[in-house]
Order: sequence, then C-alpha cells, then structure tokens
Amino acid sequence: MASSFGAAQVLVASNRGPVSYEVREDGSLDAKRGGGGLVSGLSAIGPDAGALWVCSALSDGDREAVRRGVGEDGVRMLDVPADVHADAYNGIANSVLWFVHHMLYQTPLEPVFDAEFRLKWASYEKYNRAFAEALAEEAAEGAVAIVQDYHLTLVPGMLRELRPDLRIGHFSHTPWAPVDYFRLLPDDIAEQVLRGMLGADRLGFLTRRWADAFTACCEALVGGVGDTRIGVHGLGADAEFLRKRSHEADVDERMAALREEIGTAPDGGARRTIVRVDRTELSKNIVRGLLAYRELLAGRPEWRERVVHVAFAYPSRQDLAVYRDYTAEVRRVAESINAEFGTAGWTPVVLHVKDDFARSLAAYRLADVALVNPVRDGMNLVAKEVPVVSDEGCVLVLSREAGAYEELGEDSVVVNPYDVSGTAEALHEALSVGAGERAERSKRLAAAGTALPPARWFLEQLEALRG
Ligand code: G6P
Repeated sequence: MASSFGAAQVLVASNRGPVSYEVREDGSLDAKRGGGGLVSGLSAIGPDAGALWVCSALSDGDREAVRRGVGEDGVRMLDVPADVHADAYNGIANSVLWFVHHMLYQTPLEPVFDAEFRLKWASYEKYNRAFAEALAEEAAEGAVAIVQDYHLTLVPGMLRELRPDLRIGHFSHTPWAPVDYFRLLPDDIAEQVLRGMLGADRLGFLTRRWADAFTACCEALVGGVGDTRIGVHGLGADAEFLRKRSHEADVDERMAALREEIGTAPDGGARRTIVRVDRTELSKNIVRGLLAYRELLAGRPEWRERVVHVAFAYPSRQDLAVYRDYTAEVRRVAESINAEFGTAGWTPVVLHVKDDFARSLAAYRLADVALVNPVRDGMNLVAKEVPVVSDEGCVLVLSREAGAYEELGEDSVVVNPYDVSGTAEALHEALSVGAGERAERSKRLAAAGTALPPARWFLEQLEALRG
C-alpha cells in the first residue's frame, strides 16, 4: 500500500503557479518566476522539506513546457486541456465565483444559470479533479496539502476521498459572500462548493469577517461546518523585501521619471500625489476613485495645479470582455479629467497601464496619499505596502470593504467605496494632514501591515494543520 504513495511532504495547489513559460522566436522556452506570499512561504520551509507546488498550465508556452518535460524542481504543472481550463477559469472561477464573493452582479440581468453554465460547471469539476488526482499521486503518507482559492473549492472533498490519510487545508484569498448573496448560486452548486471545501481539515481566511460569512453559509445551507476547523491568517506585507527592493537603482530611475511627469506647482513647490496601484479588477473601484478626484478638483479648486493623481491600473484577465470594457472606462474617465482640468504645465491624472513593479515601488515612495477604495477585497496588500515604502509617510484613504480595514482602519481615512462625494472629502482630508501626523500614522500603518509576513503566514497554517 505505502509503495503507491508519492514523496511530497508539503503540497501546495493553485491555479497560477510560481513559474510561467513563453516560446521564444527561435522555439526555445523562456521561464519567468513570480513572487507572492506562497513563494516566500515555500522558500521559508527550505529546499529539503519535500515541498511540491501543483499548478495549472495557463498559456500555450506553459503547455509546451509540460509537453517537452521542461520544468522546475518542486513544481508540477498540469496540462489541463485549454478548453476545459478556459471554462473553469474564465467561465466559472472568474465570471461566477469571483462575482459572487465580490458581489459584482448587476442583478436585473445577471447571473443567468442555464444549460451553458452547467457545461462550464462540468469543466470546473474536471479541472478540480485533475488537481485532486495529481495531489493524491504525489503526496507521501500523512503529508500536508494546502489548496488555494476559489478556483479549487472542490479539491479538498475530492482529495479526502482519494487520500483519507492526508491533512488537507484550503485558503481563500478573496472575501466570502454573505448568505443571501451566496444563495444566488443554484442550490446544488452552492452546496457542492461548501461540501467541497468542508472536505478539508482546516479552512483559512484573510479576516474574521470572511471566515464568519463562510460559517454562516454553512449553517444556512449544509447544517454547519462539522469537524472542519476555521482559522484566520491576515497575510501581511514583506517589510524586509520591500525596503530593500524599493531602493534599487531601477526604482530610483522610475522616481526621477515620475517626478518629471508630476511636475511642480506654479509657486515652485512640490505637487502632492494621490497614488493608487491596482490590477484592473472589477472590484478595485478605480472609476469611482477617478470620479472622486474629479469632484475634489471641481469642489475644492484650491487643489488644482497642486496635486496629481498617479493611477496605475495593470491589465488583468483580459480574456473577459467585462474586464476589457472596464479598462477602457478607466482610460476614458482619466482622459476626460485631463481634458477638463489639465493646463499646459499640469496633467491632473497620470495613468499607466503597463505593469512595472519598479515603477509601482517608485510611486509608493512618492505617495502623499494612497487611495485604496475597492468595493470589496479579500485583503489588499497595496494598503499594507505603501506605508512601509513611502519615503515621508503617507495618509491612507481606505475602503471599509477591504480586508485590510480590520487591521488598518484605525489609522486611515475610511471611506464607503460607493460614496464618491465622501471619497472626495476623504481625499481633501488626507491631503490636508500635516507632516508630523502623517509620519506617525504611516509608521503605525507599516507596523500593523507587516505583523504577519508571508513566510510566517504560511508556516502558521502548516503548523496548525500538523498540530
Ligand atoms: C487576486 C485575488 C486572488 C486570486 C488572484 C488570481 O489577486 O486576490 O485571490 O488568486 O487574483 O489572479 P489571476 O490573475 O490568476 O486570475
């Protein structure tokens, strides 16, 4: 029996893995490594810990790498057929589960759960099964497997059936929907998601609020959480990495370029900056942030020429038309503000849409005010990162619907993300905070935001599962 077990002692499963491949023009493969909490977590347990990361091939380059047998040590990429993956990832994970947890539907016309939805759901099941089978094959007896996010909600239950000896965890990086909203899902699907997750020994969430929402859904729909334990692990920013990385030469270069774009006020003084950095996800509320900035300029003309909104909106999930439309709307509104208020020497909104990590850090360093106003967000690490990196301290304007609000709310200017006028007022208030107060608040924000760095965030979960 034991001989049929695999060798991995610690397994992580996620849709997106730590590496991606592109086919170069000459036909060779170019590997790119990513960052993030799980990467630091796994490096913290060391190369000899018997760790394996199971992820999906996402692009043609990835599929080619799997077919050629190219790979990294410690990573197993699954060659899920492209159409199955597209239906599971775009069709279900991003268009249904993401929408439910972030409450994004315009309900007069959507969602529509019809025959086509059922076909996509079948792909989601298939894709989850591929992960469960790979984990079952690779795991050593009694190993720990931690499954990530809404892409893989069915894996814990499937894996439990295949390998009852394993200790199975699942971690949600998103919010969890309140009961009434979760019940938009067809009853059998809602139940399947909950039962799938409850196959785990332990479920992790980013905040108490999301953990409680999950428990409430279980109580309403499947009679409670049973023996599954629920834990909260509020992922924090990686202070050490950020402080070092943000002082490298490429960041200094980007700062100089940004300062150029920002320019100086007519009296020769430095312009204030309101910085935001987001992936252009529908939940980030970039458009209302711009509208609030417009209202600030309209209602408080004393800020004209004296402030610049530095907005980075990096592409995300561009396979989906709603995301492409949203990105276009961000551009349109930014341009209309520049057309309405801009002058020869002042561009009110400096918008960049090409992902550039060094430039993001440069903006963090320059920020006087950081605007983080999502309609709903699992945590939002930008809120935690800016105070760590900012050179002279920044004031955080923070949505009460971001997970980070639980830890950072006290030292932020808090907004209702739908209240554009309230956000405009909050921006004014934030811009008006004096230097001393700003530095003090920023210091407290940085301390709170780095309380649980990624490596410890991961180790805590591992220990809780082993204990
Ligand atoms: C956001 C969410 C994560 C999710 C990720 C997936 O960052 O907070 O919960 O895993 O998006 O992004 P992707 O680009 O892979 O769709």
